[in-house]
Amino acid sequence: MYRKNKNKRRFAKIIVLLSLLSASVLHAEIQPYKLVCEYKVNPLGIDVLNPRLSWMLSSDPADRNVIQTAYQVQVCLDKATFNSSNLVWESGKIISDQSTHIVYNGLPVVSLKRYYWRIKYWDNKGRESKWSQPSFWEMGLLKSTDWKAKWIEADIPLNNGLPNPCPYLRKEINVLKKIKSARLYITSLGLYEVYLNSNRIGKEVLTPGWTNYEKRIQYQTYDITSLLKQGANSFGVILGDGWFKGNISRKTENVKNIQKLALLFQVHIEFVDGESKYIISDNSWKSSVGPIKMSDIYNGESYDARDILTGWNTPGYDDSNWLGVTIRDYGYTNLVATAGVPVTRIKEIKPTQIFYTPRHDLVIDMGQNMVGWIRLSASLNRGDKIVLTHAEVLDKDGNFYTENLRDAKQKIEYIAGDDLVDVYEPHFTFQGFRFVKIEGFPGKPSPDNFTGIVVHSEIDQTGFFECSSTMINQLQSNIQWSQCGNFVDIPTDCPQRDERFGWTGDAQVFSSTACFNFDCSAFYTRWLQDLKADQLMNGSVPHEIPNVLGKRHSGSTGWGDAAVIIPWIMYLKYGDKRILEEHYESMKRWIQFLLTLTDTDMVIRKGFHYGDWLFFIHPTDWNVKPGYTDVDLIATAFFFYSTGLVEKTARILNKTEDIIYFKELQNKIKSSFNKEFITPNGRLSSNSQTAYVLALQFKLLDSADIEPAVRYLTEDIKKREFHLSTGFLGTPYLCHVLSQNGYNDYAYKLLFQRTYPSWLYPITRGATTIWERWDGIKPDSTFQDPAMNSFNHYAYGAIGDWIYSNIAGLQEDEDYPGYKHFIIRPIITDSLSYAKSYFNSMYGTIRSEWSRSGNQIELNITVPPNTRATLILKTSEIESITEGGKLLSDVFESYDITFSDTECNISLGSGIYNFKQERKQN
Ligand code: BGC
Repeated sequence: MYRKNKNKRRFAKIIVLLSLLSASVLHAEIQPYKLVCEYKVNPLGIDVLNPRLSWMLSSDPADRNVIQTAYQVQVCLDKATFNSSNLVWESGKIISDQSTHIVYNGLPVVSLKRYYWRIKYWDNKGRESKWSQPSFWEMGLLKSTDWKAKWIEADIPLNNGLPNPCPYLRKEINVLKKIKSARLYITSLGLYEVYLNSNRIGKEVLTPGWTNYEKRIQYQTYDITSLLKQGANSFGVILGDGWFKGNISRKTENVKNIQKLALLFQVHIEFVDGESKYIISDNSWKSSVGPIKMSDIYNGESYDARDILTGWNTPGYDDSNWLGVTIRDYGYTNLVATAGVPVTRIKEIKPTQIFYTPRHDLVIDMGQNMVGWIRLSASLNRGDKIVLTHAEVLDKDGNFYTENLRDAKQKIEYIAGDDLVDVYEPHFTFQGFRFVKIEGFPGKPSPDNFTGIVVHSEIDQTGFFECSSTMINQLQSNIQWSQCGNFVDIPTDCPQRDERFGWTGDAQVFSSTACFNFDCSAFYTRWLQDLKADQLMNGSVPHEIPNVLGKRHSGSTGWGDAAVIIPWIMYLKYGDKRILEEHYESMKRWIQFLLTLTDTDMVIRKGFHYGDWLFFIHPTDWNVKPGYTDVDLIATAFFFYSTGLVEKTARILNKTEDIIYFKELQNKIKSSFNKEFITPNGRLSSNSQTAYVLALQFKLLDSADIEPAVRYLTEDIKKREFHLSTGFLGTPYLCHVLSQNGYNDYAYKLLFQRTYPSWLYPITRGATTIWERWDGIKPDSTFQDPAMNSFNHYAYGAIGDWIYSNIAGLQEDEDYPGYKHFIIRPIITDSLSYAKSYFNSMYGTIRSEWSRSGNQIELNITVPPNTRATLILKTSEIESITEGGKLLSDVFESYDITFSDTECNISLGSGIYNFKQERKQN
């Protein structure tokens, strides 16, 4: 590699002069924006004692090479006045280009208080920004003693078996004085819906979310100032079994059969006169049963509108025949603020058709396999009973098919009451479905009667990818739908059958793709806390988080490695060093656990491991070699990989002794792996795609063994006529390994493959989400084993990471995490005429688009302010490239360009770029 940097110094001078000139013009124009605290805009009720603040630099996107040179943060209490009297932190002018994760370093934070903050920055063009608009965060209840409320249960007799009707709880209060502000802090054992004066409080559903309730119970904070009136008010709460007590909890060791649902409710009112008051759950509350006869995550809901409690959540309701409540001592020490994002109704979709199946079932097609529920709206007669059953697919004859749901009934029963128009949505359940069987509907239903309510954690879309292949675009859509459908408070395996657990392996393999598609920062921050809480004493990690199946179900490599891999992904994608600090001990403990699975050498031969779960096996033809990979090989490879990530983490955290320890451990694992699994001729003991993929991806091979490994891998792919044979653990890395080793054409061929097994095969069978198995519907149109055949399982969607980072070419740089510096290295292929992608990083939008026309390639790149990028083009001839219409060789001085034999690296500061390149004909 050599560097052409002639005239660089002269150019630098011109740049300084030009920027000073433009500085005077633009002086007043810049202002930071997108202020977030702990990844959230103006969060309420947080319990992070030193919250981190991040912002984006505003700048004309065409304005190039903008870097922050300094910043100043001010934080004040109560009002956004920023007077010296109310400042709790004044950072002063800090010389730094850091604009993400600035740690609050002011006076200690106090429960219930609101902190307003603003920032300004200076940049390398000599500009000083305006102060940002003020943002805020508000502290929750930091000490157990901040809780005045009591845990209460409804005095409704409990039916020991399931199901039980949902308890309704109410409380009226009279507010005598003028209200300045009011907050509700609330949680439950079970799920809750809360109302004030008949208004639903908050847009959240399925609250307080799913955690291991023995260890962590999240509470939510709502600003109810505008709903609370001076005068009479009525609070109402409905509780549901949810994850705490429903059928899903029956899989656990700690079944809560005999325990009742419980509520903890605390309102804090501040009056205009400076006084304050609490309204709490206590024994003055009343309870009753109502129209919800049963509500269960798996089974659905039964609702009898004839038993509606009209006016139950408005003041003046006659509750004289309601029962009381009982106070329970469930304590306050497990209570934590909600670090994640709420589950909400995200969007609505309408049916594409209503039709009769050959078996004469009346079925709605939503046109999309979705997660959430149906809103029914119809004019029904009292006593009419509508039953909606949900399914993902029709069978080969076009009939309604529910066998793959196993024991989950996914059934909604609604009995009409006296309302003129019945409008109904279920409360404490969700379904995974595309098709809905309708029973009992009087007359002919129309699509107007049904609306699909798409429900998931409120993750913002950060990634977009589109190209000239409609099949690949459908694949991208399927990946995003499967992510949304399985991001329902925690990352789940599937949203439909009697499972829906936080399987760690699935989460781990998909985490990088997930962070491209959507902002997962707060979502994973929260789930990793659950993971750490459920980690066992010996460092082992349960297969699913929250741990449902019990302690014995733990310790599988590729699954428990989520404890190491996901914090690392958070570091790469968001530059989150604190997550590494907070999980460092947990990461180390996982490695220590893996050590206990070894003997005299560093090969893992003990324990239970899922291995390359659901790797390819030909359903009928036993002459076709399955993709089986030795489980010990996989386990040892992940042991090596995670140890390496812990070693890197130790470096970042300056843990000198640990760096040495983990480096040595890695070396030992590598040499044991080589002895045990590699023949002298460089063949792996499992001659499978996954074996080579893991060995190459994790860098387990000596340089002499790389060529044979790549050869064996590519030969296998060729023998299979460009089909994959990998399972959950090999699939995410397969195309990466091919690209890294000069086989982009193989990677593309695998991606474009339409016959089974491949990513596009399900699309040829009408898939609108990612399937759990390569052959969920087999080539002969029959189904795979219904005992395990989900049509909404994101694991194989991990190809999304390769699509973003290779087709669009967007790659993070480990040395400058969070996209402070990144790489754009698109792999331009003749199979596509264009590819467009953007990614909203914490610094702003990164764009990478390319198109091909004849011999010309055009690239449109955006690099956000305060970052740098390296564009890597496959050419050694700068003469063939223009930017903004100018030959690069003519404006050579403006760029820092380096060359290798085949590639040209162009270093780019922020700005918008348009490159054109003539390709040589071979
Ligand atoms: C789940 C998976 C999970 C697996 C464990 C299945 O039932 O659906 O996705 O990772 O069990 O191997």
